[in-house]
Order: sequence, then structure tokens, then C-alpha cells
Amino acid sequence: MGTTNAIEGKREGKKRSCLQRSPAVLVSCRGLDGENNVLAVGYCCNCSFDPPMVMVGIVPTRYSYKLIKESGCFVVNLVDSHYQDTFDYLGSHSKRDGDKLAEKNVRLLDGKAVNAPILPDCPVNIECTIVDSIVTGSHEMFIGKIEYVHADEAITDEEGKIDFSQINFL
Ligand SMILES: Cc1cc2nc3c(=O)[nH]c(=O)nc-3n(C[C@H](O)[C@H](O)[C@H](O)COP(=O)(O)O)c2cc1C
Repeated sequence: MGTTNAIEGKREGKKRSCLQRSPAVLVSCRGLDGENNVLAVGYCCNCSFDPPMVMVGIVPTRYSYKLIKESGCFVVNLVDSHYQDTFDYLGSHSKRDGDKLAEKNVRLLDGKAVNAPILPDCPVNIECTIVDSIVTGSHEMFIGKIEYVHADEAITDEEGKIDFSQINFL
């Protein structure tokens, strides 16, 4: 911190997580034995337009990590403000320590294209198959090919175009 050759009016900023704001999403997953889990993820972005792909960064110590790794798929659920309390809980409690999904009455439905659950109470659910991953450092970035997108009818036109301005993101 603090350099002698700083540009006038600037100082050196911290390097970690400096792409802000990043979307707050809930990633849902299912292990090979059928166990479901959900965790909050801030390391999430689009990474290919064609074919459509997104990636999520998961720390290997997360309970969800093994489930995602062994199943080869995950679901990205966009979260709106009515789900803030559940988001905070799922992002601060590990399934390793208790059934956080039951504690918060998290509703799950089977995905349509992949063997992982979707969160129907979130407005958009993006089902992905993992096509690659990169260990970048603290996180393993899982690259997911988008197989199917569920979007609430109220925010989607007949052709499936989603009006993201109607989602009150966290
Ligand atoms: C706002 C927010 C963003 C988070 N982003 C990530 C992330 O990008 N990757 C990750 O592995 N954990 C992230 N976490 C932490 C996990 O959600 C948290 O450790 C969770 O309890 C893991 O659950 P699990 O052990 O049941 O998988 C985030 C938490 C919060 C609150």
C-alpha cells in the first residue's frame, strides 16, 4: 500500500474481489447419493455468449464443492430481495453442520435438464453442465454450459426474453 509514484488523486487499492458489484446468486447442487445443497456465490459471471456459458467459483472447503465436482452440474439461481434472509443464511451456514435447507424451508424442484435442484422461489434458474474447470487460487472456477433456463412468466415475454429490470436484485 502507498506508493511513491501514485497518480495524483489516486492511491493503491486492495486487490481482492475488486470487480464490484458482482451478482449475488444461490448455486444449488446434488451429490451422486441424491443429497441436495445450496450456497451463496459471489464469484459468478457470464463467460461465453456462444455457446451460452457461465462460471461459478467454489472454494474446495465448501460442503457443496464435492457435490458439484462429482455430479458435474449445478444450477445458478438469481436472487431477488424477498429472499435476502434465506440468502444470508445459506451463505453463512454449512450443510456440514446441519440441514440448513430444512431450517429455512427452502423449496426445491428437480431440474429439467441436469440432475440438480432448482429454487422455484428465485425468479431465474440456470441449469448448467460443467464442461471445464480452472483452479485459480482460492477458488475453483467451474465453467457451465447452459442447458436450460427457467424464468418467471411475469418477467418473460413469449419468446423467453427476460426483463432483468423487473428483478429487484439484492
Ligand atoms: C455474499 C456471499 C458471497 C459468497 N461467495 C462465495 C463464492 O463465490 N464461492 C464460495 O465458495 N463461497 C462463497 N460464499 C460462502 C458460502 O456461501 C458459505 O461458506 C456457505 O456456508 C457454504 O455452504 P456449504 O458448506 O453448505 O456448501 C459466499 C457467501 C456470501 C454471504
